[in-house]
Amino acid sequence: MNPATIVILDFGGQYAQLIARRVRENQVHSVIVRPDVSAEELRATNAVGLIFSGGPASVYDSNAPKCRKEVLETGLPILGICYGLQLACDMLGGKVKPGAAREFGRAHLDVIRQDTLLAHVPERTTVWMSHGDVVKEISSDFLSLAQTPNCPIAAVKHRSRPIYGVQFHPEVTHTPCGGQIIRNFLYEICGCKGDWQIGNVIKDSVEAIRIRVGPTARVICGLSGGVDSSVAAALVHEAIGDRLTCIFVDNGLMRTGEADMVESTFRRHFKIDLRVVDASDRFLKRLEGVADPQDKRRIIGHEFIEVFRAEAKQFKDARFLCQGTLYPDVIESGHSVGGQAANIKLHHNVGGLPAELGFELVEPLRDLFKDEVRRVGEHLGLPEEIVWRHPFPGPGLAVRIIGPVTRARLALVRAADDILIEEIRAAGWYNKIAQAFVVLAPVSTVGVMGDGRSYGDQHVIAIRLVETTDFMTADWVHIDYELLGRVSNRIINEVRGINRVVYDVSSKPPATIEWE
Ligand code: XMP
Repeated sequence: MNPATIVILDFGGQYAQLIARRVRENQVHSVIVRPDVSAEELRATNAVGLIFSGGPASVYDSNAPKCRKEVLETGLPILGICYGLQLACDMLGGKVKPGAAREFGRAHLDVIRQDTLLAHVPERTTVWMSHGDVVKEISSDFLSLAQTPNCPIAAVKHRSRPIYGVQFHPEVTHTPCGGQIIRNFLYEICGCKGDWQIGNVIKDSVEAIRIRVGPTARVICGLSGGVDSSVAAALVHEAIGDRLTCIFVDNGLMRTGEADMVESTFRRHFKIDLRVVDASDRFLKRLEGVADPQDKRRIIGHEFIEVFRAEAKQFKDARFLCQGTLYPDVIESGHSVGGQAANIKLHHNVGGLPAELGFELVEPLRDLFKDEVRRVGEHLGLPEEIVWRHPFPGPGLAVRIIGPVTRARLALVRAADDILIEEIRAAGWYNKIAQAFVVLAPVSTVGVMGDGRSYGDQHVIAIRLVETTDFMTADWVHIDYELLGRVSNRIINEVRGINRVVYDVSSKPPATIEWE
């Protein structure tokens, strides 16, 4: 049976995922579903409470997303947030109108009634708002619980049913009492117990894999060395032991020591049946003279599938393919209760193997966010080096060399990357930032080295350090100059062929994280 679950109805915008994470941080399982979910689907999910997310629409628009009326009649506790509040009030007899002024950012909230939802919230506190519409009138079934200067109905409760709503966003860190409000809803209103813990997740997942794979079938898994495929493989190994075979394709575009690290972790430490395929010559040959980033990606993706297909053919009895698909990949548009089927975003890495390879899929992480995957990895005893690794793109260093990839350029970018990562780790920054890497720009700039002018055989290295939680937007890291200086000095002194180092101070958007 599914664990007791808080179901989040996604009305659009970027809010639903953050709400889901906040719920899970309270050791309560949560899933995100389409707004038109039926009452029957909710029962199948073992829902113990519903959260209506915010969203960009206005409830009075003709095509505004709505929930089904039957959902309001299930008797399940409901918390509407922003658009979710407006929708619940509108569907239950209130009036929603454009506000006198749009309200973005911090606002002072005055609590009028310290009902269960607002228990332990200070009488006056700061909340974070982002709305143009307001609830102008509530039906007589509702009570107002709080107000802000621009929003007289900022929190409500139904008089006789467990339906609540807030105009502000309790899920963002700018609302200091938000965590308390979410806890009140989960524990006091929905009766959650906080028993969804990583240990149980692993136990359930291992059991589910055993049932799905059965007593004799084999599973193969494409390992990339990244945290997702590594944790997925470790989970499957826990479930079926030596009926798992992992395939690691060395495409020659990895960083220094990467292939060895994967091999020592999986073959030596976990004693997993690991096949390492050194396909670097083949990849580099196909990439010769290719400068366009999308061409590089296409070639690498294609070669990967060819190599993997040839390798997988040797395992005649392998019926299943293990993939490290994560929950955010599953909840694209068109997601459904419990994340069945749905559109899965295809990456240019081992997650993107095409269906026609003829395997059934085992995706043990498809219900988890990245930080949860890391916790599972730690629990299973994977080394810190793998669990806390920054994401590395499937096409590897090929997209970190501007223009054609050559062995000489790969050597330059590897050497510079080693220095950057070593210094960032030594200074304690590695785990504080989302991604750190260098890019080789093969342009010549003039330099002086020793007594002579250098030009022609000298290139530029750019350092890229970014902070982000979702990789959709990102900021460059305000790293200290001492550290930058040290990295720059070392790269110029130690990597022959580099005479200039620059720091990339562009945010995403408009720049992307990778340069290609
Ligand atoms: P961008 O450059 O699009 O990157 O801002 C966002 C995140 O995706 C990674 N990335 C890729 N990952 N195959 C991958 O598996 C790719 O082709 C690819 N391109 C970018 C990037 O490293 C960052 O984490």
